[in-house]
Amino acid sequence: MELAEQVLGQNWAEGEREGTSYAYTQPSPGRYPWQWYWDSCFAAIVWRRFDRARARAELESLLAAQRPNGFIGHTIFWGAPVSFPRLLFYNVAARSSFQTETIQPPLLAWAWRIAVGDPAAEPRIAAQIDWLAANRDLERDGLLWILQPDESGLDASPKFEPVWGRYSNGRIGFPLLVRRNRRAGFDARRLRDRGHPVLCETLVNTMWSLSLQALGRPSATPALVERLWDERRGLFVDEAQPGAVRPAPITWASLAPLALPDLPDEIGRRLVEEHLLNGREFLTPVAPPSVAASEPSFEAGGSRGPIRRYWRGPTWVNSAWMVWLGMRRLGYVAEAARLAAGLIAAVEREGLREYYDPCTGRGLGARDFAWSALIAELADLDPAAAASYL
Ligand code: GLC
Repeated sequence: MELAEQVLGQNWAEGEREGTSYAYTQPSPGRYPWQWYWDSCFAAIVWRRFDRARARAELESLLAAQRPNGFIGHTIFWGAPVSFPRLLFYNVAARSSFQTETIQPPLLAWAWRIAVGDPAAEPRIAAQIDWLAANRDLERDGLLWILQPDESGLDASPKFEPVWGRYSNGRIGFPLLVRRNRRAGFDARRLRDRGHPVLCETLVNTMWSLSLQALGRPSATPALVERLWDERRGLFVDEAQPGAVRPAPITWASLAPLALPDLPDEIGRRLVEEHLLNGREFLTPVAPPSVAASEPSFEAGGSRGPIRRYWRGPTWVNSAWMVWLGMRRLGYVAEAARLAAGLIAAVEREGLREYYDPCTGRGLGARDFAWSALIAELADLDPAAAASYL
């Protein structure tokens, strides 16, 4: 796909910071100039089609930002520190910080396997996994917990509101949450011990399980099923503590475990047949919407009001790709092809936008958005790559 290559190429940034070289794809140069962890993983997956050296350099830049204890932040400020107005919303210890103190869905090991090679040959990848296990597996059952909605990558999804209420991303109180968590050193265990919310979130743990498996470690999928699978509703539901709160809104994250190669087939089939192919929920012309169309919070055109709020209805290409992987694995080949065709048509008409109206396909949000280049995966299945998905 020429468009994918062209946008990745024009968003490419290279430089040097205090003697360390970096190279990565800006998610969207105007709006998102820095290096975002999961955006880079998706960009590298597509780069491997055109330029393997860049795919590797992109992921190497994440590793170049890694702290000696293994931690890699959600956003890395290579060229310039975070701008003053964004300080209120960005999870940095101080304005001059080189990276945030928070995480994003940990798919580096999986992305490395797809785009570069065996992640077990790169000890820094295992070091990040070890940091996550030591600091975020709060209940020692092999699953990770997050301390803010945006650690899931799904910033203002309505599923966070039963947990964080008016302190959720995109709500007026969010800067207060950032301030409080900054004071607690963004330490999940400390926050939990003080009675503040932490969340065992489905998408983060899906990525976690993919990465563990890519690295040859025991899968987290059985624990994910054990803790978050809701047999009655036929989907995955997060769990918040304190209080074992189970947020009710149905979002695409409830279906994300479809990307797991070791998800039990009967669970995958329920996700597909009861939800993904359900016209009231996720079977829109350009699917899957980030929130089920049946939810009162669903907003097809993005968000209403003065504050930009993400993941409240529009369709994102990374989500489509993840559920598409599962549909194909389970043999829903024609349905997967239809889902891909809907999004491909929208991309051809509108370009690589950040997200799309799930009903009309209208392009929304940032322009020339890098991870929307994942449309190349949906448009052209590379058999060698498909095998390396796991
Ligand atoms: C938005 C998205 C997040 C992404 C970032 C950069 O905050 O919600 O997932 O990483 O933009 O593209």
